[in-house]
Amino acid sequence: MKIINLVGARPQFIKAAPISREIKKNKRIKEIIVHSGQHYNKELSKNFFLELNIPTPKYNLNVGSHDHPTQISKIILKLVKIIKYEKPDWIIVYGDTNTTLAGAIAGNRSGIKIAHVESGIRSYNNDMPEEINRVLTDRLSNVLFCPTIKATNNLKKENIKDNVYLVGDVMFDNFKYYIKKFNSNILNELKLKKNNYVLLTIHRSQNTEIEKRLSNIIYCVNNLAKSIKIIFPVHPRTLKYIKYFKIKSDKIIFVNPLSYKKLITLLKNCKFVATDSGGLQKEAFFAKKQCVTLRNETEWPETLEFNNNILCPPDNRKNMSLILSKISKKNYNIKTKKTFGNGNSAKKIIKIIEKFKT
Ligand code: UD1
Repeated sequence: MKIINLVGARPQFIKAAPISREIKKNKRIKEIIVHSGQHYNKELSKNFFLELNIPTPKYNLNVGSHDHPTQISKIILKLVKIIKYEKPDWIIVYGDTNTTLAGAIAGNRSGIKIAHVESGIRSYNNDMPEEINRVLTDRLSNVLFCPTIKATNNLKKENIKDNVYLVGDVMFDNFKYYIKKFNSNILNELKLKKNNYVLLTIHRSQNTEIEKRLSNIIYCVNNLAKSIKIIFPVHPRTLKYIKYFKIKSDKIIFVNPLSYKKLITLLKNCKFVATDSGGLQKEAFFAKKQCVTLRNETEWPETLEFNNNILCPPDNRKNMSLILSKISKKNYNIKTKKTFGNGNSAKKIIKIIEKFKT
């Protein structure tokens, strides 16, 4: 059996790593890793391959940054040629990026089977390109691998019932696999003490390209930085817009985007996380860290249980400042459940794909 393992953006490298490890153990499956090139900076791409031991992609489509329709169509055109040449049985796509949707369309139109990992996730905010990518990818996929019970229920509501499997979350597989294996030197490098700083990330288009939202976030966080250090591994686009809108951010400690190892080390030792990333919300939950989500909604409602994660909508400065200041003053004892499986999702996924009969 031949499988294309399609990746393109930072979170997909993390999700593909446990799947790739599982395929490696299986002599009957040949893996072809295809990188769309949606993320291309060393910090957003190559470093993850090295650190997570993901084999070098056989193909890199080098698509680069474009407006969404152009990016999606360029990936489809290039991927269809590879599918024609390689004749795989399956394509595995992850999550909700433009690469995911392009992979699902290319797979569907080329007549190969599509497995969607992280299926059934919904924010119910159609202004997010990711929401559209997820919904359409779920419609096109032959097998839908859900990370949580809520995700399977979301699919039921949309009348998608066939070939839906609750397998747990592959990001938890990776977290569990690596959490004890590495500890980077990043705390020393940044002169940080345990539980004495906030880890901040912002990259969503609604939070970076809309001046009011970006300036609200940076204003509130910059204020908070007077009482606690704020470490901000900054996405290239976010930095571009902070400069473009000339937003004051002098108290925040900016660093380049971090490798998985460094980010997880910072996460393990921070006081709390403030983010708009779906992946980091989950990783905070896995690490039993308080998370403040800088958005109006989350596609991971499971993390809101017991207030492990608190929504902090960036459209109201006063409300944001209140939430951030309250969280920074308290010591939270975070309770979590085994909401995201046992860390063996990749194993289940590969087993189901191998036995799948149409
Ligand atoms: C993409 C995904 C998002 C995911 C995120 C993880 C979509 C619609 N969005 O968002 O779901 O959470 O990846 O990080 O697919 N850029 C660089 N270097 C790079 C890549 C991007 O400078 O290597 C800059 C470019 O200016 C680009 C912008 O970042 O236009 C946005 O990149 P893009 O891949 O479109 O979206 P992300 O915000 O990274």
